[in-house]
Amino acid sequence: MNDALQKAGISPTLTVGEVARRSGVTVSALHFYETQGLIHSTRTAGNQRRYARTMLRRVAFVRVAQRVGISLAEIGNALAALPSDASPSREDWSRLSMSWRAELDERIAQLKKLRDTLDDCIGCGCLSIDRCKLRNPLDRLGAEGQGPQRLLVRRVD
Ligand code: FES
Repeated sequence: MNDALQKAGISPTLTVGEVARRSGVTVSALHFYETQGLIHSTRTAGNQRRYARTMLRRVAFVRVAQRVGISLAEIGNALAALPSDASPSREDWSRLSMSWRAELDERIAQLKKLRDTLDDCIGCGCLSIDRCKLRNPLDRLGAEGQGPQRLLVRRVD
């Protein structure tokens, strides 16, 4: 792949500034990701970082996963399953995606429920909106568990 890139005049390695510009992530955040082992770089003779272009995909993955609330630790565990010495293949990413499917499905369901239930009683015990009388009379749902019983998505193991 690197030969094809070079023939096309595209550098297979990037400086930290180039990664920051292309990914939309700050240089300091990239350095932090590297200290967490989420991305890797090599050093030039002048001790400057150089990132393989494939690191852009890792940075994009970290950024979006964080945006949906996944912890850096979980992200790190997932990325650790990818080969670190070679460019991860589509199959590698597919395996990662499969390992996260249940987690992501649950988050999607939770986000949908949050979007669709906030204008209704969420079963939290506040009894503060008109619908509570109907949906949660006298906080009947409190007997079923802690938290907003009508908002929480139950994990299906
Ligand atoms: S919204 Fe809190 S109990 Fe109904």
